[in-house]
Amino acid sequence: MSNIQLNFTGDLHKKFLLNFFKSLPSFYAHLESNRLVLAFFSAAGLEVLGELESLKPEKKEAFVQWLYSLQVVDDKNKVSGFQGTSILNSAENRGQNSDYRWGHIATTYAALCTLLVLGDDLSRVNRKSIIESLKYLQLADGSFKAAKEGTEDDMRFVYCAAAVSHMLNDWSGVNVDRMVDFIIKSISYEGGIGQGPGLEAHSGSTFCAVAALALSKNLHRLSRTQFKNLRRWLLNRLNGGFNGRPNKPFDTCYSFWTGGALKILKAYDFIDTKECQDFILTTQDKYGGISKYINVVPDPMHTYLGLCGLSLMGVYELSPIFCELMISERANNHLKNIQEKWKRD
Ligand code: FPP
Ligand code: ZN
Repeated sequence: MSNIQLNFTGDLHKKFLLNFFKSLPSFYAHLESNRLVLAFFSAAGLEVLGELESLKPEKKEAFVQWLYSLQVVDDKNKVSGFQGTSILNSAENRGQNSDYRWGHIATTYAALCTLLVLGDDLSRVNRKSIIESLKYLQLADGSFKAAKEGTEDDMRFVYCAAAVSHMLNDWSGVNVDRMVDFIIKSISYEGGIGQGPGLEAHSGSTFCAVAALALSKNLHRLSRTQFKNLRRWLLNRLNGGFNGRPNKPFDTCYSFWTGGALKILKAYDFIDTKECQDFILTTQDKYGGISKYINVVPDPMHTYLGLCGLSLMGVYELSPIFCELMISERANNHLKNIQEKWKRD
């Protein structure tokens, strides 16, 4: 592994990500229902590469308008948020609320992040409606489901609820004590955190839990022993590349899920990431994009998270990441300025 010499092919990744900026290549058509989320990985990835500046302002504004066209404001049915695609907005329900226009908490999270990355001021976001609908997504055990009906409920959506509340600077849609209780109960005997109580620890759910605690300023609720065991479990995920749980192969996305959680817990500096850096380079596709393993089709999520993983390592002059929100530090500073303005208004 350490003898492999590979170059970082940022220009090819830029080309790959631009394919998802405003349309969807046919090979990825099955991902249409998550089109907005793919657009987030694309825009945020271009930002990490330092390439967003080169896009024409008209192109960015058209993108912003498309994002706002997916905002659902439905105070009657309490399903406000953003939808992932407009494909079901058929002639009879276009422009009005219907059973086919529901917000989804992961899409709402991705939409707000994308707007921030693109430099929008969030003035067209209906903050009040989104927070009002969020109240209906929390379950009695403190976890969150993704939409009003028909979805799973677990740590992923706890994270999205925390991130949306943080970005909109309004936690009134979340019972934070219950949320923290759910997170603490989801710490497994291994020391990492699962999707819920009694479930196997996984880096994805651990990232979600740690970031939700950090955003809600509740990291101190972990005991010294829980904190120590959590850091040890995360550090043990590095085994060349990062894996997501013991005895599983490493995968580029965990360079962020695990690396980001370590960064939030201030334990990233304990590791030597050179081999992981080499591993990520081997997963670059020759036509651009990064895949989960070597010789596998690349996708926008692994491209973005691989770039974030490299950024955490401080290589190739990639934009620094604010791990808690999974966006650049620049976009997070932009958010802080917007929130200052809200306070003044
Ligand atoms: C694979 O499980 C699952 C993932 C790679 C996703 C994990 C990430 C999350 C749960 C975080 C989601 C974040 C948001 C913002 C919603 P697997 O069992 O196929 O993979 P494994 O074998 O590597 O464990
Ligand atoms: Zn992965």
